[in-house]
Amino acid sequence: MAGFVEQIEPLKQTALVELRAAQDLVALEQARVNYLGSHGKFTALMKQLGALSKEEKPAAGKAINSAKVELEGALAERRNELELKAALPREPTDFTLPGRRRVLGKLHPLTQTTEDIVRSFRKIGFVVADGPEVEDEYHCFDALNTPADHPARDTQDTFYLALSGAGASRSPVEEGRGGNERGSLLLRTHTSSVQIRVMEKQPPPVRIIVPGRVYRRDNADATHNPTFQQIEGLYVDRNVTVGDLKGTVEFVFKELMGSETRIRFRPHYFSYTEPSFEIDFSSPLTRKMGKEWLEIAGCGMVHPQVFENVGYDPEVWSGWAFGFGIERIAMIRYGINDIRLFYENDVRFLEQF
Ligand code: DAH
Repeated sequence: MAGFVEQIEPLKQTALVELRAAQDLVALEQARVNYLGSHGKFTALMKQLGALSKEEKPAAGKAINSAKVELEGALAERRNELELKAALPREPTDFTLPGRRRVLGKLHPLTQTTEDIVRSFRKIGFVVADGPEVEDEYHCFDALNTPADHPARDTQDTFYLALSGAGASRSPVEEGRGGNERGSLLLRTHTSSVQIRVMEKQPPPVRIIVPGRVYRRDNADATHNPTFQQIEGLYVDRNVTVGDLKGTVEFVFKELMGSETRIRFRPHYFSYTEPSFEIDFSSPLTRKMGKEWLEIAGCGMVHPQVFENVGYDPEVWSGWAFGFGIERIAMIRYGINDIRLFYENDVRFLEQF
């Protein structure tokens, strides 16, 4: 067929122009269909090959095949370019700009303070113990030698749980409270209950601290919150003295509040210690708050009755205990004047620690 070979080159050229001019993948596909699809112009030309004479066929076949290879090459090349273009951002991008950093979270100031306190006590051989926040009256009060008519046991001061059902004994249920033979269930008002839980479970010696959440029916104000955190300490061994207690407290407070910290003990009353003290401390931090001495903790020598209650022989074993509020310490350390800030989760506050 005359002119077959002559048609190849111009058709190839227009096809190349169209393929290379395609502005996106849809246009490219359209161009491919136009020339190389089963009804495409180039395909149609190839189909004419069969009608050529024996002599013409080899040269014509070679020419049209190499044109086809060239078109497919151009198609693949343009496809690569367009795919890359589609993957790039639409707006011009400055790849030399610094990357976006993810902001690292921080520990809550109360957690940081707790961890510091725990770290100090670990240095001198204390381990962390744990106990339930939902307690019974026995562990929170009775076993700590706190009699039933003590004001702390008043519903005005303590959150009682109104549960009923299995395990509920007569007296709590009569009072409309949940509980069992260990008394009504309540939210623990202090971590001192864990002293009892630990001593019930293990023989002396004991050297524990107990950080944890406690609950009281206080209205929230700058210095009170219905839930707050305490750290309890308990040390039981032979021949333990008030000197051991004072030395330990002094060591920990110097670590926490700086080496200029001084502490003093004032006589006080707790039902589970005898003698009992309140601990005041003094440091540049307290002076900054306008006070020489700030009350910070309660403590004392474990009452013999408490030892009896857990089956320790008070003639053999002696010990001390203390409890202090973590918020109070964090407030003094960081100069915070309102306890509620710890619980509002305002990031502008939290970011500062
Ligand atoms: N439980 C007391 C409170 O919540 C603090 C306390 C005082 C704990 C004396 C003790 C202690 O272990 O011996 O105010």
